[in-house]
Amino acid sequence: MTANDIIDKKKKGQELTKEEIEYIINGYVQKKIPDYQISAWLMAVYFRGMTDSELLALTNCMSQSRDQVDLSKISGIKVDKHSTGGVGDKVTLVVAPVVAACGGKVAKMSGRGLGFTGGTVDKLEAIPGLQTEITEDKFFEIVNKIGLAVMGQSANIAPADKMLYALRDVTATVDSIPLIASSIMSKKLAAGSDKIVLDVTVGSGAFMKNESEAINLAEKMVAIGEGAGRETVAILTNMDIPLGCAVGNNIEVVEAIEALQGKGPKDLWEVCENIASLMLSLAGIGTKEECLKMVNQSIQDKSAWKKLQEMVEEQGGDASYITSPEKFTAATYQEDIVAQEDGYIDHMNTEECGKAAVLLGAGREVKEDDIDMTAGIHFFKKTGDKVKKGELLARAYSSSNEKLTVGVKKLREIYHITSNPLPEEKAILCYVTKEGVKR
Ligand code: URA
Repeated sequence: MTANDIIDKKKKGQELTKEEIEYIINGYVQKKIPDYQISAWLMAVYFRGMTDSELLALTNCMSQSRDQVDLSKISGIKVDKHSTGGVGDKVTLVVAPVVAACGGKVAKMSGRGLGFTGGTVDKLEAIPGLQTEITEDKFFEIVNKIGLAVMGQSANIAPADKMLYALRDVTATVDSIPLIASSIMSKKLAAGSDKIVLDVTVGSGAFMKNESEAINLAEKMVAIGEGAGRETVAILTNMDIPLGCAVGNNIEVVEAIEALQGKGPKDLWEVCENIASLMLSLAGIGTKEECLKMVNQSIQDKSAWKKLQEMVEEQGGDASYITSPEKFTAATYQEDIVAQEDGYIDHMNTEECGKAAVLLGAGREVKEDDIDMTAGIHFFKKTGDKVKKGELLARAYSSSNEKLTVGVKKLREIYHITSNPLPEEKAILCYVTKEGVKR
């Protein structure tokens, strides 16, 4: 067997065996196969795709490329949740404490934001003192004690994915559904949970720009999860409009706290209650309907909000910020964007909204960039909303006056007003399980 034969086979559209896939991936990780051959193989996969059995072999091999987390030290069924990313996506900050307050176990490894999408770890670090770089033993101890902990993903999880992703990034092979599916699922399988809920975002602020692509990706990831013996369900959520009203680290944490207090935006709560009840029903805590009631009860009786306070304390943070969110530092500079005429807000390009937040300082353009925790955008009006001339549309925040100027310029370009009403945006599009697509 040689790398050249395997590239040639894939180029001709023939199915690779598990051994051939392992030869390629292990050879790359062990630096026996050079970048140029893997690049050619990635491009062949890009054009030829992968069968379900090739995809499972690839994902298993990537997930086993180094450490695999053994969550057996945590009692009960552990359910993980993963989002394919978006703008204003603070769902984990809400869902994890809700699930724990309802008796579920959440041992969550999360990542940082890059480009126009935010990351849970950065948002959590907006809470003074909170540590996401904790040892695995501490992580298990906290989950056993209070039902949840969120830690930064260790560099030892699926290193094959890191190497392949870096190469995909420079060989125009990122936007391949089998390569995205295996990349995400390799990390989920290595993170050790028994069940997996995938939030596959769809629209202008997501990787998947339309529903049929997103269903295709969801089906592939569900097939991988199920093939690896982990029950996996995907929920497709709307990312054609920013989720909630806040985009930026401090203000997103505040919005998540408001959601836990029962006063968050409607679209955010709709996504959170569906994901949380799905996670709980997969954990065997009740039917989806029973779990939905428990989820709403955890908001009414404030147990989910208290759970976040406990988590923050256990991870070394200052929980007074969760009880008194007004303590979060406000930005030095802010500027309002107001409607120039009467009408309805036309479709907002959500990726551009995320980019405007990055320009304000809320995100990173490259890995090494620092984040301005106070920067961001508060959307008072979003796609489809009716507005009057002079009404407040959005408020931009930054600790740099220069960044404020460029961010606001972009934000003004995003807003367009039309005289025609738009159809109402749905928060949840459909579910994908091993049985198929459910609406
Ligand atoms: N997220 C990942 O982890 N990998 C991809 O390939 C795309 C999104």
